[in-house]
Amino acid sequence: MSNGTDSRKTFIAGNWKMHYTHTEAAALAARLGERLDTGGVRVMVAPPFTALQAVADALRGSAIVLGAQNVSPEASGAHTGEVSCAMLAALGVRVVIVGHSERRHVYGEDDALVARKLQAVLAAGLEAVLCVGETLAEREAGAAEAVVARQLRAALGTCSAADLRAVTVAYEPVWAIGTGRTASVADADAMHRAVRAVVAGMTGAAAAAGLVVQYGGSVKPDNAAELLASPEVDGLLVGGASLQADSFIRIVASSASSPLVDSCPGN
Ligand code: 13P
Repeated sequence: MSNGTDSRKTFIAGNWKMHYTHTEAAALAARLGERLDTGGVRVMVAPPFTALQAVADALRGSAIVLGAQNVSPEASGAHTGEVSCAMLAALGVRVVIVGHSERRHVYGEDDALVARKLQAVLAAGLEAVLCVGETLAEREAGAAEAVVARQLRAALGTCSAADLRAVTVAYEPVWAIGTGRTASVADADAMHRAVRAVVAGMTGAAAAAGLVVQYGGSVKPDNAAELLASPEVDGLLVGGASLQADSFIRIVASSASSPLVDSCPGN
């Protein structure tokens, strides 16, 4: 959990991936808006594009931040199927996830494209959650830190220390996503230190010390507190367990700085 520097506020985000129609997503957002006391924690939900408007409406008046899962690096034009930063911003999106492993590994996004997306997000005055993480084969080959360092250098290569204030890094080991396998706290801790060291080398120690680094990969209500107890884990990027109000609220409540609003009966 963030400590050592006041600027690292705990940041817990739900990535709803390709789940829920706009009606279903609005219902979940409304439940979260009613029941989740964000307390001292920054909380974001990232619904599918088609649900952004409905979720924005449902979250009006709530402190929960609206996020998007992806974006085009282009500003406008003949890009069939793409959505621009300006379109997201107009819906009230404040944060965009870029470089998620499903985008990298299933949809073939390379480091250069992720870097262009990140630059587009920052240029639009939005914030980014930059996802990095190694595959199981890369970890077993002893290359985990090198892979993550390469992803960071490629994406953040042109960022100033000021730009970095709008960036959160999410360490999501690919082998832990949707598998029920979580990185050990020691592994997450070590990689988060490595992330901060790479960023320190690029933009200076002060910027790196203020960088919020989330962990993602099979985060559940019963492992969130342990992960957040690490001084290096400043937040969580949650997939499956963010799809029910009950489990997401319990995860947010795992952060000592967040009071639980109710006892979360059912969902
Ligand atoms: P799970 O929490 O379902 O493993 O997904 C993690 C993730 O990819 C969040 O972006």
